[in-house]
Amino acid sequence: MPDNLLPSAPGPIGVFDSGYGGLTILHSLQRSLPDADFMYLGDNARAPYGSRSFATVYRFTLEAVEYLFRQGCHLVILACNTASSKALRSIQQRDLPRLDASRRVLGVIRPTVEAVGEYSRNGHIGLVGTPGTVASQSYDIEIAKAYSGFRLSSRACKLWAALVEAREADGPGADYFVRSDLEALFAEDAEIDSLILGCTHYPLLLDKIRKYIPQGVEVLSQGDIVAASLVDYLRRHPDMDARITRGGSTRYLTTEEASAFSELATMFMGHPVKAEKIEL
Ligand code: DGL
Repeated sequence: MPDNLLPSAPGPIGVFDSGYGGLTILHSLQRSLPDADFMYLGDNARAPYGSRSFATVYRFTLEAVEYLFRQGCHLVILACNTASSKALRSIQQRDLPRLDASRRVLGVIRPTVEAVGEYSRNGHIGLVGTPGTVASQSYDIEIAKAYSGFRLSSRACKLWAALVEAREADGPGADYFVRSDLEALFAEDAEIDSLILGCTHYPLLLDKIRKYIPQGVEVLSQGDIVAASLVDYLRRHPDMDARITRGGSTRYLTTEEASAFSELATMFMGHPVKAEKIEL
């Protein structure tokens, strides 16, 4: 996609996730930047991404980023840990210079790691994430870079995102998986005092997660952390800030049937959402 085919006029902030999970980030972004326009894209037809290979997650994520660029977004947030850990670096280093070096793609892992130090008192951190995120060791690497002496214990939760995509997050079946994965994590390190929800789908399981963790453990969900980091980024990059349209609107796009997406998003966002189906 040569530069000259990308629209240069200001556009909405693109927010991408494999499916519904990124809505937990979007919700906070809308609150922190109420005037900004957003374009949310959920690749629900191909979710979950969590068990897919590096090459596949990279290809799918790049397709989504290119789509959002063509729709006029100059800034895209990968509101997905799996995409952030498997595709972000390649897109930033390999694809952006080729597509349009002035556009930006930002992820969710770095801001989360920067925030964890403010929560933990003893440096014992727990991470729940998709198999892809955990296997990538992105959190291990970033935490080791940012803090000395922190201990990270991780649990790949194979089914949590799938339960959310199947709209079973509130069902009794979800309890079994949430409980057994958290028991395994805290068996590895009983001193964990801060738990990173390293998948944007997981705040939709928050009630169950709180039920099965020891009292006093801080739960970091990423919405507010990523929103605060974006506000700070835009303050430091007025050139990018000027390339965001300000109408306070959000368009919701999905690669699956729009009606199912609209229904869940309406429930979650607390106002009527009318999604559009697109092809990547
Ligand atoms: N919401 C995503 C994440 O933050 C991915 C879930 C999935 O598609 O497996 O990792």
